[in-house]
Amino acid sequence: MELETIRFEVRDGIAWIRFHRPEKLNAMNSQVLAELEQALASCEGEESIRSVVLAGNEKAFIAGADIGPYAKADVNQALQMGTFTMNVQERLADLPRPTIAAISGFALGGGLEIALCCDFRLAAENAVLGLPEITLGIIPGGGGTQRLPRLIGLGPATEMLFLGTTIKADRALALGLVSGVYPQDQLASEAEKLAKRLAKLPPVALKACKTSMRTGLSAGLKEGLRTELAAFSMLFGTLDQKEGMAAFLEKRKAQFIGK
Ligand code: COA
Repeated sequence: MELETIRFEVRDGIAWIRFHRPEKLNAMNSQVLAELEQALASCEGEESIRSVVLAGNEKAFIAGADIGPYAKADVNQALQMGTFTMNVQERLADLPRPTIAAISGFALGGGLEIALCCDFRLAAENAVLGLPEITLGIIPGGGGTQRLPRLIGLGPATEMLFLGTTIKADRALALGLVSGVYPQDQLASEAEKLAKRLAKLPPVALKACKTSMRTGLSAGLKEGLRTELAAFSMLFGTLDQKEGMAAFLEKRKAQFIGK
């Protein structure tokens, strides 16, 4: 795929989406978002892709939305840009495959919001995370006020959102904002290790798990429980359920095929 601000590569069933706008610390403009959308569309359409890793470079995952275009925007333009961002982020959050954000350096504003749309966040020791929008006279417009408190709780999220404070990797780990912190040169291999582990698990069940969790969090407990039950029972119609349980009983390793 010919993209300018994103490198897209599929290797061993794992899709790598690498943000590549180094001169601006990967700040997200409409081109980055459009290209991210293309990459996500490729992941949606490809059965053989079992997990997806999003990464930047050593210095930045993404240092936020590109403040340049936003500085000139009026209310309508902000709504348009925000809507486009929200649609791409929803597509990422709804991706029917497990997603991992491998965060090195800055994950600020819209960058952290992209990471919050992923199922896992791993950080390098140099990671700096935050939603500094308040210091620019705005608030996060890409899910930050919603996804951050849901993930780390209202108290710490309020501190980060109201004060615009950035936090380092060790604090992010303590808050549960990231699930692991690694030396910079090990981040990619740790992300790959997790992606490979996920790639070996039954994809239909993983997708059902993701959908159930997300439905419950957005629609409430009752709806979530109904969704979970429907997905749970549906999985008994898959070959992977037969294989998983047979493998247990036969004391061997299951081989899942995604059907
Ligand atoms: N939007 C647009 N440009 C950005 C950017 C953003 N969010 N983040 C970084 N850049 C640009 C800088 O303007 C600079 O461009 P220039 O060389 O043409 O001047 C380049 O990226 C390098 O950034 P610089 O500020 O020189 O690096 P630094 O290491 O000194 O500082 C940051 C890094 C992340 C602390 C600083 O760039 C920053 O505060 N960025 C904005 C973060 C933010 O508020 N994000 C939320 C936006 S809603």
